[in-house]
Order: sequence, then structure tokens, then C-alpha cells
Amino acid sequence: MPHTLKLDATQSGAIEHAANLLRRGQLVALPTETVYGLAGDAANPRAVKKIFEAKQRPLGHPLIVHLSDPRRIEQWASKVPETAWKLIEEYWPGPLTLLLPKKDSVSDFITGGQPGIALRMPAHRATLETIKLLGRDIVAPSANPYGRVSPTSAEHVINAMSGRIDAVLDGGHCTVGIESTIVDLTGERPSIARPGQISQRDIEQCLGISLSGKSPSQQAVPGNVKRHYQPNTPTIGLPAGDFSEQFPRRAPKGARIGVIWWQSVPGPEATESTRLAADPDEYARMLYTAMHSMDQAALDYLFIELPPETDRWMAVHDRLRRACSR
Ligand code: TXA
Ligand code: MG
Repeated sequence: MPHTLKLDATQSGAIEHAANLLRRGQLVALPTETVYGLAGDAANPRAVKKIFEAKQRPLGHPLIVHLSDPRRIEQWASKVPETAWKLIEEYWPGPLTLLLPKKDSVSDFITGGQPGIALRMPAHRATLETIKLLGRDIVAPSANPYGRVSPTSAEHVINAMSGRIDAVLDGGHCTVGIESTIVDLTGERPSIARPGQISQRDIEQCLGISLSGKSPSQQAVPGNVKRHYQPNTPTIGLPAGDFSEQFPRRAPKGARIGVIWWQSVPGPEATESTRLAADPDEYARMLYTAMHSMDQAALDYLFIELPPETDRWMAVHDRLRRACSR
């Protein structure tokens, strides 16, 4: 069991230290604008294997390769369509992952045997510098145990992964707070494989076309499981319009109950409560932090007042649906 070192990205030498650990095949949780990633050297199969072990993630779930230079995509993708360059121009570095046809040389360990490779250039100075210093690309799934809530601070990583990884580079709280949008460019028409802060409409506007409803990879990939992003506390979602009426009836008597709400002030049945913003971007930024602190409060149940079902809330709804799926 490694001792997990905490490195402060603002201290001199911390980024060099993180890059050296990665060079030796060790695992370092790195900050990104979306969530913290559990990084390993993509060129080192033993490091890649250790990521699966540390997360207790089943093999066959593919990993995103993180780059510090967009031109590196040509090392991984067999074909880079014009649509990819347009999206890169508009959104990289940023919370957008591109799924492209992989080169034959790319290890099945990274792609889980899928025909595509997922690539992203994150918008976090410390992580971009770490990759540059390492001089190689990294693979980085979210730095949480399999199926659990992604970390949006170094403390979240330490709480869940301490002793299982070599270090965490503390780069502050993530500004986006939910995982990147994945755009699948392996099919005839681009499609969204995972919704995120960059919306379907944003992508359509950038490309000047309408996206296909179905992503060819979405069905095939085991990472797309229904139960995901789950707090340890059993979680129940209630629609905003019904919350005030349903919550007192559904809350088991005598239980310790947490509530994450945005519009309807919970009554005395709530032991703990946290209010999130009525704006989707601000809501997303704090959602996982709210879930992590509810998990620290030894509750029997967590109730979440669901936001409106409009397009701008799509990514948040995707995460909440999976968090509440039992
Ligand atoms: O924001 C993010 O994307 C974060 C940060 C750390 O960059 N990373 C992240 O990685 O969310 P992970 O492993 O937790 O989720 C990656 C998703 C999974 O649903 C996986 O199935 C999909 O991307 N994916 C990765 N590679 C793929 C591939 N080759 N084909 C299809 N889907 C892929
Ligand atoms: Mg994840």
C-alpha cells in the first residue's frame, strides 16, 4: 500500500515531483477543470493496469488519453476529420472529449477493445505543465472508486483513495464540476456519447450541422452503466414541482436524512441540507461537493430535489438519474 502524498500545485517543485512519479510508473491524481483524474503514463502498461486496480474498475472500461498539445491526437487517431479540428479550435483546452477511430498500434488496455480512442486536452495549468514535463501523454479516469461520485477537490480524492495511489496534486476546486462532454466522431454523423457542460446545441452551432441522436459507442461501452456517480448514502430524486408535498411523506420517520435542494426549502424531516444554485453551470460545479459532504454526515437517506427537465440541465440530469438508480 503506497502512502499517498499530497502535493500543492502552487508550491515550487510540486509539478516536477508529480511528473517524476508518473515517469516511474506511479499513479498521481491530477486536477482538471471538470473533475480530478487518476493519471498514469499512457505509454506504460503497468501503470495503466494499476489504475484499474486502484479504482477497482473492471477491465474493458476504456480510458481517456489526456494531452497537453492538440497535435498529439494524430499519434492516437487513425483519422482526424475536419469536424474534430473545428471542435478543437473552439473548445480545447476545455471540457470536451473527442472519440476518434483509433490507430492499430493503440493498446486494447486503453480502449477496452473498442474501435475508438477518447482524447482530451484539459484546461488546468498544473496538469498541462505536468504532462509537458513528463513528455508523454497520460490516461486519466475520474479519481474515484468504481461507480462512485467523482472528486472535485484534492480532499475528495484523499478521502476515497488514500493508500491506493501514490500522490494527489492539489490544484484547488474544479471549476466545471462534472465530467467532460464526449462527442463521438467515429460514426457517419457526430453524436453525444456523454452530456456535459458543453451542450449538444453548442456542438451543433460550432459544426453547423445537427447531431445524430445515437452514439455508436454508447451502447457498446461498459462505462455507460445505469448505476454510476453514486453517493454511498441511498439516494432518492424527487421532481421540483412535487418536492414540498412528497418529501415529508417519503422521508422515513426517525431516519437521518440529507437533502440537496435548489428551490423548495425542506421541512424538519431533514437532518442536513444544502442549497444549490438555480443556474445549471453553478449547480453542476457544486453538485459532487454536496454529495461528498452528505456522505460524510452518516445519513440513512439522501433526497435530491431534481432541477427542471430543460436542455441546459441535460448533463446534470444524466448524473442525477444514475446517482438515484438502485
Ligand atoms: O472530464 C472527464 O472526462 C474526466 C477528467 C478526469 O478528464 N475523466 C473521466 O474519465 O470522466 P472516466 O474514465 O471516468 O470516464 C470516461 C468515459 C467512460 O464512460 C468511458 O466509457 C468513455 O469515457 N470512453 C473512454 N474511452 C472510450 C472509448 N475508446 N470508446 C468509447 N467510450 C470511451
Ligand atoms: Mg468516471
